[in-house]
Amino acid sequence: MRAVRYHEYGGVGTLVVEQVPEPRPGPGEIRVRVAAASVNPVDWKVRSGAVREVLPVELPAIPGRDAVGVVDETGAGVQGVSIGDRVFGLGGVTGATAELAVLSAWAPAPTGWTDEEAAGAGLASVTAMGGLKALGPLRGRTLLVEGAAGGVGSAAVEIAVARGATVIGTAGERNHEFLASLGAVPTTYGAGLAERLTALAPDGVDLALDTAASGSLAELVAIVGEPARVSTIADHAGAHRLGVHLANAENDSALLAEAGELGRQGRYTPRVERTYPLERTAEAHTYGERGHTRGKIVIRV
Ligand SMILES: NC(=O)c1ccc[n+]([C@@H]2O[C@H](COP(=O)([O-])OP(=O)(O)OC[C@H]3O[C@@H](n4cnc5c(N)ncnc54)[C@H](OP(=O)(O)O)[C@@H]3O)[C@@H](O)[C@H]2O)c1
Repeated sequence: MRAVRYHEYGGVGTLVVEQVPEPRPGPGEIRVRVAAASVNPVDWKVRSGAVREVLPVELPAIPGRDAVGVVDETGAGVQGVSIGDRVFGLGGVTGATAELAVLSAWAPAPTGWTDEEAAGAGLASVTAMGGLKALGPLRGRTLLVEGAAGGVGSAAVEIAVARGATVIGTAGERNHEFLASLGAVPTTYGAGLAERLTALAPDGVDLALDTAASGSLAELVAIVGEPARVSTIADHAGAHRLGVHLANAENDSALLAEAGELGRQGRYTPRVERTYPLERTAEAHTYGERGHTRGKIVIRV
C-alpha cells in the first residue's frame, strides 16, 4: 500500500510517500481502507523527535492518529461492525496517513458528514469530551474555551453548546466569525482577558477548558475561582503545578459514538479548513505547525 512515512526524526523534509507493508489488525482491532486522515499537533511533535522520551515510535513511522474509512478486515473478538461499514476513529499514535490503517476505537460515521469531516472528528472529539467531562455538568453553566478555533477547541464549543452550556471562546480576530458560527461568543486571548469576560459575562464564568497551552492556566483559575473548575488538554506542567484537571485523549469507542450521535443530530460537524492529497502531507504539516489552524486539516487518501 501507499503511505506517508519518515525514516528519521526531523522536519517536514523527512516525509516521503512510498510503498509499505500492509498493517494487520490485532485482537479487538479493525483495519479500514482509509478515505481521509486528519493532521494533529501530535503528528509533528512525534515526527520532530521533541517527545521521543515520552512517546517513542518505531521508525520508519507513518504519521496520523485518526481517520475515516471502510472496514476491510476485523481482528479476533471484534463484534458489532462488518466489512464494508464506514467508520471513523483512532489508531495508535502513528499509522493513519496511509491507504490502510488499523483502528482500535471507532464508531459509524454519520451519513451527513463528508469523509473530510469524519476524518477530523476522531482525536478532536474524544479529547474535547475528556476535557469537558472533567468539568462536570454543563447545562446552564458559562464555559470559557481558551483556544476555541483549533481542532479540539472548535469541537469542544459545539459539544458544550449541545450539552446546554453558554460558551465564550478565545481566538484571534480573524476567527471570531467562525466562533460565532459554532455557537460561541468570541473574544480575544491574551492581556486583559478577565476584563473582557466581565463585560461579556457579568454574572461570571463558571468553568474553563484550556486547549491552547499558552501559559494562561493560572489566569483561567483566577477567572473561574478554583482549580477544580478548570481543565486542560494541553498544558501538562501547568496542570500539575496548579492542580487543574488534565485530560488526555482516550481510544474510547463510546465517546466516538457520542460524537457521531451529535453529528447525526446536526449539533456537531468537524470544520475542515484545508484538505491536501496524500502526496502533499508535508505541506499540511507545515501549515498546521504554524499553530493557527481553523478547525481541522485533513489528508485525502
Ligand atoms: N492531551 C491530549 O490527548 C491531546 C489531544 C489532542 C490535542 N492535544 C494538544 O492540544 C493542543 C491543541 O490541539 P489542536 O488539535 O486543537 O491544535 P490546533 O488545531 O493546531 O490549534 C490551533 C488553534 O490554536 C489557536 N491558538 C494559537 N495560539 C493561541 C493562544 N495563545 N490562545 C488561544 N488560542 C490560540 C489558534 O487560534 P488563532 O489562529 O485564532 O490564534 C488556532 O485556531 C495541542 O497542543 C495538542 O498537542 C492534546
